[in-house]
Amino acid sequence: MQTSNEAVLTFDNVAKSFGGVHAVAGLSFSAVAGETLAILGPSGCGKTTTLRLIAGFEEPDIGTIAIGRESMIGKRPYERNVGLLFQHYALFPHMSVRENVAYGLKYRKWPKAEISSRVDEMLRLVQLEDFGGRRPQQLSGGQQQRVALARVLATKPKLVLLDEPLSALDAKLREELGAELKRILTEVGSTTIVVTHDQDEAMSLADRIIVMNRGGIDQQGSPSEIYSRPATRFVATFIGRSNWIGGTLKLNHSGGFANVVMESGTVLTTGNPGLGDEVAVKVGIRPERIAIVGTQEDDRMSGANQFPAMVVNAISMGAENHYHVICSAGTLMVVEPGGRGMSFSRGDRVKIGFRAEDCVLFPSRDAA
Ligand SMILES: Nc1ncnc2c1ncn2[C@@H]1O[C@H](COP(=O)(O)OP(=O)(O)OP(=O)(O)O)[C@@H](O)[C@H]1O
Ligand SMILES: [Mg+2]
Repeated sequence: MQTSNEAVLTFDNVAKSFGGVHAVAGLSFSAVAGETLAILGPSGCGKTTTLRLIAGFEEPDIGTIAIGRESMIGKRPYERNVGLLFQHYALFPHMSVRENVAYGLKYRKWPKAEISSRVDEMLRLVQLEDFGGRRPQQLSGGQQQRVALARVLATKPKLVLLDEPLSALDAKLREELGAELKRILTEVGSTTIVVTHDQDEAMSLADRIIVMNRGGIDQQGSPSEIYSRPATRFVATFIGRSNWIGGTLKLNHSGGFANVVMESGTVLTTGNPGLGDEVAVKVGIRPERIAIVGTQEDDRMSGANQFPAMVVNAISMGAENHYHVICSAGTLMVVEPGGRGMSFSRGDRVKIGFRAEDCVLFPSRDAA
């Protein structure tokens, strides 16, 4: 990532409704030069609307949008210098690959020779040098998407907007093209906003992620911050897997830790979440943060929360082994790296443990 602190895009309290639907509700964020910013959220949370507002296909009801230092309010889409790759690729079927990539350059009346060398450069960038003469229908889905990307990047837009760029592809191709897309965006050094409902896509492409929920922002941060320190229960459930354990918080002012007493009477030690005493809470713990050892007497385990447990389900997923265990904290999912066979089987008596600092706490009333 090559970033400076210069804001290329600024949203200030932007809202947009359609009839009674608040598609975007008071959004404020900015994107800095050279970064790839992912807007991640479930279907209908307002991602495409956000992109359409940036591109000028919608105008905000309230709030301001600036590109660089210039307000975009009232500016037509063609006055904005943004490149938008739509949710479903839309190449012109009657044009060759070269003509598709050249389209925006012709529209901008670039000289012929410059168009030709820019198209060559773009086809090299997306590794389709030998495909210039083909029609879109003679290409695979992944190749079509690379042509669409070349077409967007050709005009050197100030901002590149990608709406679910990999969603039309199957899982394996999605992974390959995702890595390719990351390489291309890094090489070009463009400022990019990528919209997706797929957490893996956001994690792998983005320098920074904005998690959207019902038209607003729940959290912004680096992929690892969002994963390890989710700001809301929604973020913690939407991104990655978590075990949730219900209980009542008992504040303990020594050492920054707190206790959570579960219905069973079992006590968990957790970080202090800054909530009031006696609040009903849900404790979240990632399955890969739970350690599992083979005997209940094993004392190698570190961490405050240790429980005898029984394996009730053991599944090999190839790269990971998944276990379900029953303990006094409830039924928990535990994930360990796979590839070397299973360490435990159904019926095994084991011990599990996790650290207080790996627990996240939210009030029970918060929506997941
Ligand atoms: N032109 C429109 N007229 C009426 N409602 C709209 C319009 N565009 C969007 N909406 C509504 O606004 C909300 C946000 O839509 P948007 O397309 O931004 O969601 P999204 O996050 O892109 O979802 P997806 O992941 O399914 O693409 C939805 O409830 C949608 O039905
Ligand atoms: Mg959308």
